[in-house]
Amino acid sequence: MLSNDLDAYWMPFTDNRSFKADPRLLVSADGMYYGTQAGTKILDATAGLWCSNAGHNRKSITEAIQRQAAEMDYAPNFQLGHPLSFAMASRVSEMLPDGMDHVFFANSGSEAVDSALKIALAYHRAKGDAARTRFVGRERGYHGTNFGGISVGGIVNNRKHFGPLLPGVDHLPHTLNIEQAGFTRGQPEWGAHLAEELERIVSLHGAETIAAVIVEPIAGSTGVLIPPKGYLERLRVITKKHGILLIFDEVITAFGRLGRGTAADFFGVTPDLITMAKGITNATVPMGAVGVSNEIYSTVTNAAGFGIELFHGYTYSGHPLACAAGLASLNLYRDEGLYERASAMAPYLEEAVHSLVDAKHVIDIRNLGLVAGIELSARDGEPGRRAMNVFHDCFDNGLLIRVTGDIIALSPPLIIEKSQIDFAVDRLREVLARTQ
Ligand SMILES: Cc1ncc(COP(=O)(O)O)c(C=O)c1O
Repeated sequence: MLSNDLDAYWMPFTDNRSFKADPRLLVSADGMYYGTQAGTKILDATAGLWCSNAGHNRKSITEAIQRQAAEMDYAPNFQLGHPLSFAMASRVSEMLPDGMDHVFFANSGSEAVDSALKIALAYHRAKGDAARTRFVGRERGYHGTNFGGISVGGIVNNRKHFGPLLPGVDHLPHTLNIEQAGFTRGQPEWGAHLAEELERIVSLHGAETIAAVIVEPIAGSTGVLIPPKGYLERLRVITKKHGILLIFDEVITAFGRLGRGTAADFFGVTPDLITMAKGITNATVPMGAVGVSNEIYSTVTNAAGFGIELFHGYTYSGHPLACAAGLASLNLYRDEGLYERASAMAPYLEEAVHSLVDAKHVIDIRNLGLVAGIELSARDGEPGRRAMNVFHDCFDNGLLIRVTGDIIALSPPLIIEKSQIDFAVDRLREVLARTQ
């Protein structure tokens, strides 16, 4: 392929000019590995983009998609249905917290987030609390790239180019503090008090104007920020006290990343809404979903007169291929005990990544479940450049990592072997040693 054949595609979240001058093209995938166009094998230490939880090209999932495509390619979900979407919603609801028995389908994490925000507004309105329109997100939060998601999100580059965004959004402070809690294994002891900032926001606006608080239980895309012990619990207490809904954005944490179906289950904190995507279909067919509490579902549906109760949805909500892929993925996770496997492998990953404590440039390491973040000092005047060089060097030497700013994130498929963790960490150590 000639390099100018790459011109037409405007790639997302990519430096298009540099990429097209030196492209990295993946052409095959199997288990823990990608294959490149140049014929090399790359260990996938990021599960694609935190999404191929059972590894790549799993036969039972691909076959389920093929069968469904041959039987019924598409069916509308507006005023019509097909059995797989109901089956998929039931299966997803089984793994959600008690009292959360309803699932709304979208096609991505971004759509799941915007759906959850709209459902929160619809709930308050149905209750007669129509003044509750404000949202509270968190600095450094990532909730996808639609307008709702970037408004409640807290990553400056994702926000600053796109105007005033949704009105009425405040942000909690993020919870990372390397001075206080650097090199913590698992949840930091320091930082639960940061949840109290919500009380300040409530006193500023009045609880009766706030619809929902949205946070990622673990902030992933912004560089693996692990919640301090007691922090999520505190947010739950404060939101409940003020009648504010709590939304957990579990687009990366659901489906086994922490060794459980959800982070809500792992942390023992039950929100009112949970957004999901990615691992829901093992990333084979796009799908997003919102887990909805019974209280929210029944309030919104019962408040409506004749006709539609929620004026929201997507042409591809509950797409048959996504549902087939989703059911096959959930079966595979269960049959191979992959969540338990993730739990069992987490201490090994923890030990391995923390062995990089003395590696060149490393200023913090953090981890929980099968997620780890390794933060590097930034090069003077060139933030992000050092980690990007590490990313390229690793890729050229058989290892796929993810970088955000100067932070390396590892989130391997749950099928990773100990020897593959060793390979990833050894390769990182070598690459860091030669990185300027
Ligand atoms: C927590 C979280 N929310 C939302 C999204 C957006 O998902 P998508 O890229 O499928 O729209 C992501 C993607 O990484 C995410 O990590």
